[in-house]
Parts: sequence; C-alpha cells; structure tokens
Amino acid sequence: MEQFKGQARLPKFAVPKSYGIRLKPDLTACKFAGFVSIDLDVVDHTKFIVLNAAELSVDSGSVSFTTRGISKVLEPSRIDLDEEDEILVLEFAETLPIGIGLLRIGFEGTLNDKMKGFYRSTFEHNGEKKNMAVTQFEPADAKRCFPCWDEPACKATFKITLDVPSELVALSNMPIIEEKVDGHLKTVTYQESPIMSTYLVAVVVGLFDYVEDHTSDGVKVRVYCQVGKANQGKFALNVAVKTLELYKEYFSMPYSLPKLDMVAIPDFASGAMENYGLVTYRETALLYDDQHSAAANKQGVATVVAHELAHQWFGNLVTMEWWTHLWLNEGFATWVSYLATDSLFPEWNIWTQFLDESTAGLRLDGLAQSHPIEVEINHAGEIDEIFDAISYCKGASLIQMLQNYLGAECFQRSLAAYIKRYACSNAKTEDLWAALEEGSGEPVNKLMNSWTKQKGYPAVSVKVEDQKLVFDQSQFLSSGSQGDGQWIVPITLCCGSYDMRKSFLLQSKSETLDIKEFLKDKTDAASAWIKLNVDRAGFYRVKYDEDLAARLRYAIENKFLSATDRFGILDDSFALCMARQQSLTSLLTLMGAYREELDYTVLNNLISISFKIARIVADAVPELLDYVKQFFIGLFQNSAERLGWEPKPGESHLDAMLRGDLLTALAIFGHDLTLNEASRRFQSFLEDRNTPLLPPDIRKAAYEAVMRRVSTSERSGYESLLRVYRETDLSQEKTRILSSLASSPDPNITLEVLNFLLSSEVRSQDAVCGLRVSMEGRETAWKWLKDNWEHISKTWGSGFLITSFVSAIVSPFTSFEKAKEIQEFFATRTKPSIARTLKQSIERVHINANWVQGIQNEEHLVQTLKELAQRK
Ligand code: BES
Ligand code: ZN
Repeated sequence: MEQFKGQARLPKFAVPKSYGIRLKPDLTACKFAGFVSIDLDVVDHTKFIVLNAAELSVDSGSVSFTTRGISKVLEPSRIDLDEEDEILVLEFAETLPIGIGLLRIGFEGTLNDKMKGFYRSTFEHNGEKKNMAVTQFEPADAKRCFPCWDEPACKATFKITLDVPSELVALSNMPIIEEKVDGHLKTVTYQESPIMSTYLVAVVVGLFDYVEDHTSDGVKVRVYCQVGKANQGKFALNVAVKTLELYKEYFSMPYSLPKLDMVAIPDFASGAMENYGLVTYRETALLYDDQHSAAANKQGVATVVAHELAHQWFGNLVTMEWWTHLWLNEGFATWVSYLATDSLFPEWNIWTQFLDESTAGLRLDGLAQSHPIEVEINHAGEIDEIFDAISYCKGASLIQMLQNYLGAECFQRSLAAYIKRYACSNAKTEDLWAALEEGSGEPVNKLMNSWTKQKGYPAVSVKVEDQKLVFDQSQFLSSGSQGDGQWIVPITLCCGSYDMRKSFLLQSKSETLDIKEFLKDKTDAASAWIKLNVDRAGFYRVKYDEDLAARLRYAIENKFLSATDRFGILDDSFALCMARQQSLTSLLTLMGAYREELDYTVLNNLISISFKIARIVADAVPELLDYVKQFFIGLFQNSAERLGWEPKPGESHLDAMLRGDLLTALAIFGHDLTLNEASRRFQSFLEDRNTPLLPPDIRKAAYEAVMRRVSTSERSGYESLLRVYRETDLSQEKTRILSSLASSPDPNITLEVLNFLLSSEVRSQDAVCGLRVSMEGRETAWKWLKDNWEHISKTWGSGFLITSFVSAIVSPFTSFEKAKEIQEFFATRTKPSIARTLKQSIERVHINANWVQGIQNEEHLVQTLKELAQRK
C-alpha cells in the first residue's frame, strides 16, 4: 500500500481498455448503487491493481478479476481504499497473467451537494421541490462516481447503463440503444462510446423538455431545459448547429459522435462543461429569453456554446496528456470560440472584445505570484487552481499571437494536421508546436517555449534616437519591480499609417531599428505617430517615451487609430500607472483624449479603469474624489446621451450593451439625473415587469442606481429588488439582481446583503455574484468574511468557488496594515484550494498600497484634475 501513496499519477501495471458501468441513482434518498466491469490490459508482472476511487463504499465480496484465455476468477486477498490519495489498491495472492482480463467491482455512493462527482441538483416542478442527478467529473472527480483510472491519458471506451425512475429523462454521452420499462423503473442502455478520457463521461437524470435540430450531415442536436421553457433553448440550439458545421470545416474533421445534447443544470459550479456528446451548462450560460435576457446574455450564451463545442475536437478527440497541458484545452477553446462567434455574428466585433481576454491574462500575469502556463502538477488537488486567467486568457492570447505571426491559413492547415495525427489519443504542448513548425517552417517551438515555460511577460519600451527606434524589453510586474524574464517577442509596428508596417522578432534584451525610410516626408503631427504591437495581437505591453506618447495622444484625438490600438494604449498606460512607471496625471490626461470614443470595447475598458482610479483616489487623496467623479461623468456623458435610455430601432448589439455599461458608470459616479431617471423607470418596472421603460439591457444600471440610494432609513429600493429576485424564475435576472445588491453606500445594508447571500434563497453557485461590494462596504465585507469563514469554508471549500470570496473581498484594500491583518487571519486558515488566490490577492493589496503612496507624491495632479473636471 505505502508504495502507492503520495504519487501524482497511478502506476500503470494494468491499463483500462473498456468500461461497462451500471448506475442506479436513488433521487429520494440521494444515494446511488453502481457496478463496473473493466477490461484491463495487464502489461507488467504484478500482484496489484491500483486505480482511483473516492467517497465510495466498495462491496468487497463483489470484487473479482477474471483472466482471459484460461478463464480463471481471482479474488483479491486485500482491498484498501485510501481516502487521502483517493486510490483503491487490490492485492492478489498470485501474480496476474500478462494480457487482457476483466475487473468487476460493486459499490455504493452518495449523491452529494458539492456540485462535483455524481451530485444532486434541485428544481421546482408544479410548486414542488425536486431532485435531479448530475455528473461533473473534470478535472478528476469521475472517481467519486465509479472506480476508474481517472487520468486524461487513460482513454477507454464506455458502455453505460442506467436504472432510473421511468418518468424521468436519462441522458449520457451516447444515444440510447435500449430502454426497458419495468413498473416505476426503467433500464436505459447507451451505445458504447469511442475511446475517451474519464473526465468527459457524463450522466444526467431529471425532468426536462427539449428542442431539437440536425446539422447538415445528420448529427442530432438537442437543448434540454426546465419543463415549459424549451423556447429558451432555441438560440443556443441554433448556435450549436452552425458551430458544429463550422468546426467540421475548420478542423477538417467531422464531429465524431452521432448526437450532441446540451442541458441546463440549476446547480452548476462552473459556467459549462464539455462532456463528450452531453455538454452541461449553468442556466445563465445556455438559456436565452427574448423578453428578459440582455444583449450581453445573448453574447455570453453564444461564446460559451462555441467554447464547449470547440472542446469536442480540442480536448475530447485530442486530449491533453496531463493537466500540465490544461492550457492547450482551455486556451485554445477560448480562442477558437471567438473565431466561431465572429463568423456567426460579424456585427458583434468580437475580435475587438477579445482584448478583454488578453487584458485579463496580462493583469494576472503581472503578479509575482502568477505561474507559468505549463505548470507542474504533483497532486490532483492542485488541478482546480489552474483553471484561471493564465490557462484561459493568456493561453488564448498566445494562440492569437502565434496565429498572427504564422498567418491564418498556415495556422489552420497545421492545426488540422495536428488534430488528425492525435485524434483519439493524447498530446502535449510541444506536439502542437511540432505540427505548427512542420506546417510553417518557422521555429515555433523555440519561440513559444519562452512564453509557456516561464511566467510573466515583457514590457517593451521604445524611444526615438537619431532616426532610429530603440527597443528594450524587461519583465513587467504590477508591483513596479523588475523581473528577470526574457522573451522572443514578435514586434509589429506602424508609422503614421496602417500601410506602413514592419515586423521582426526581438530576440535579445535590446535592439535598434532604422526607420529613416519611414520618417521621410513625415514632419506633420498627423503622420508622425508610431504604434507598436499593432492591434494588440502580442502578449506584451509597450512603454513609449514622452514624445512618442504625445504623438499617439494626438492620433487618438484625431481618430487615426483603430479601436484595438486605442484599447492597447489606454490599457498599457493604466498598467504602467499602477506600477508607478507613469504618473496618474498623465494617465488622466490620456483618458481625456477618449471623450469622443464610440467603440464598445474601448469605452468598456475606459469605464472599468475609471472605477479603479476612483477607488484608489478615494484612499490616496480623498479631497480629490469629487473632481475625479466629475471628470469621469463628463467623459461618459456624451456617449450616454447619444444612446439614451431606450433602444433605437435597428440599433447595433454593441450599442445595446454599451448603453447599460455607460448608465451604470454614471450611476456609480453619482450622476443625479441618471439616478433620478433610473428610479423613475424602476418604479414603472415594479408595476409592470414588461414595461418598455426598463428593457433588460439597462436593468443592471437601474438596479445599481436604486441601490446607490438605499440606506438603513430608506430601504424601499432594496426591498423591491428582493421582491423581483424572489418572483423571477429566470436565473439571468436573479444574478443581475445579486450582482447589484451590494452597491449601497450604507455598510449596514451591505451586511444585510452579504447575509442574504448565505441564505437558502441563494443557490451556492450564485452567492459569489454578489460579493462586489461598494467602496463604503469594504470593511464590513472583510469583517463579515472573518465572522463567517468557517461556514463559507465548509460550504464552498471543496470547489473553486471559494477563491472568489477571497479575491473579491481582499483585493480592494489599499494599505500595508490591512495586508498584514489579512495575512495574520489566514495564517491558520489557509488550505491548498485558496493558497494561490490568497497570495495573489495580498500582492494586489501591496500594489494598491504602493500606488496610493505614489499618487500622494504627485505634484501636478490637483491642477490637472481640476482642469480636466471643468472641461466639457
Ligand atoms: N472545461 C471547462 C469547465 C471546467 C472549469 C471544469 C473548471 C472544471 C473546472 C469548460 O470548458 C469551461 O471552460 N467553461 C468556462 C466557460 C467558458 C466559456 C470560458 C467556465 O466554466 O467558466
Ligand atoms: Zn473550456
């Protein structure tokens, strides 16, 4: 036994070839009984079979191993289930013969409430609360449902049989081949699957309605929804059918199963899960309601569906060899979901919105407490933590950078070759690089290793010196200190026009580029700008010298630059400011150049940056806060007036999303007219939930505005919102409300809201939506977290949702004393599942604290701010 403990991976004396799994869930008692028969290939002389199992009680009398050939039934002499290592060790009296044999195990388990393994979710039907049974196995929780080799490389076929109440819908990865009803129970048998990893096996048993369609080559696609709500599945169904057809072309490989089901699950830890042929979703990520969903919800559904379907090829057909390569799965699916969404909805400008992903990656990777994309995994418990912005956002951005460098056509061709080569098998990061290297003739492996094997990224600083550009790279850290990483950076630049382009690989720390030919005839201000990292396609930041920065500001004001470039300049400038490499004064001046900004993504980033600045100024120089607010209100007012409160006939999707974001910003900054108008419209909404005065796209703004005016002595807005929350049965409406509730400036209300999140009225998956408390509620939230830590840790501690509690409540602080206090509190309470998030959040507090001090020492801030605030 001891020899098998403490290992990252199972010993491979025997490997599974095919599983027969029979499960009988009891939805009333929340238990299940199961039986597996596994065809094994014994490849080494051994007396042991070691596989995974956890939280299962194995019926020892049922365990046997039958050798093939001279058929002989062996019973184990010893059975050990080690809960710490989650392994089941079977010891036999004699050495097992090399070759195929059949392992049988009977077991029982609990349908748990932890949203992982085989779990229970609840729903209401005809006013009655009911249970459903659902699986969620990624990353390594199949072993909580049946004993198995729970590692992505141990692929096998699966033949599943379910014994369930006859009135329920029972789904699994493959189509049903037989259904036998026997009184209240039915036995449902599914086709055997192609070879696949355990984390993709799935079962759903509950009450559902569905809508159905086919792809042009006959794949049957269904969306399962709550009874009576099948209409809400139509949008996702349409996206799914088109996306399957698109990916078939893109990967030069058809979808490999005969059917695809997509199901909305009321209790669901992540957003969605790509189980082979049976994709599960949170309701908010799958259902679209014409009356009550916002444009942002629609876009969310489309991108999540496109993401999960991408996994059917990238992840399910070709699977990462080990979790170290998780980013291949997630980074790639994220990137390609934009490709699909762009093809389906070109008017969404989704590639501009992709910048939100790269920015999220850059933000997390600017911390010293970040990690390399390829990260060593020594224990299953460490896997959850890497489903983060590094794997998803940095991963997707690196793919984007590489595709840009190699060219779209060559990239796609090589990718198709990779999919073909590794179909039904496993691959590592370097296998993808090899395929791309073969297809392009470029040194992909060398280039990309510098990005995936070390954490962080460079800031490239650039200046002009006698008609030459001088580049210098150094690792960017938000703390302001310099790391010692170095990268091979694909540099692109434009001078004065998008036709004047140059690109090269920056392979050393510094380099010089002659731009004489570019500069001739460029003496006027209009054509004198130089923009690096064109379209922000590279995963790095750029630091311009003052002269170049001023030329760019001029180019922004005069609308010479693309939205992606305007975004990049603003975002880099903000990051440099936080790292105290640029003054707040100059950042604010730059922001002033965006007064006439129209692009959704750019404005949206301008808004989130303005929130952060307002929060930091409130701590650094509180007496300037009113000027800051006034400046920001002035910055957004024009656009908000252009869009008005109600949708214009035929207006764009992006304007619909932008309207809500602008009004939210004006409400948060205390713009009286906006607050008044919001409360007027909210009143009409209370009288009639279908009023045209409060369409879904502006509801969040109205809710925030209402909560900004709620206090202990004026509670009516809060109570009305709770009423709407209780009455609606649309999860998107519920989460919209939850995410606005903590905006009240009155800490007593904040406390009430936080306690409400812990009540039985809020599903545990949703509680994390309500943690973004107002500036004024920050301290209350921290005290609340401490007071309730035991309960929170018990309820959310076994999944990744707990990290949101830590990051949302800890990161907004801005002093070293607070950081110390937080550290002391967690000293005795930390555990592996929050360790990394906690360190990152505390690092953010330190960064904020340094930033506050930097701002306090700025000389020209007051004067500049007053000027900016007055300008109209
Ligand atoms: N494979 C993940 C689901 C997952 C996440 C499993 C974390 C285990 C732990 C799925 O493909 C995914 O990435 N879902 C995203 C949505 C996506 C559109 C970014 C999610 O759940 O947030
Ligand atoms: Zn994914």
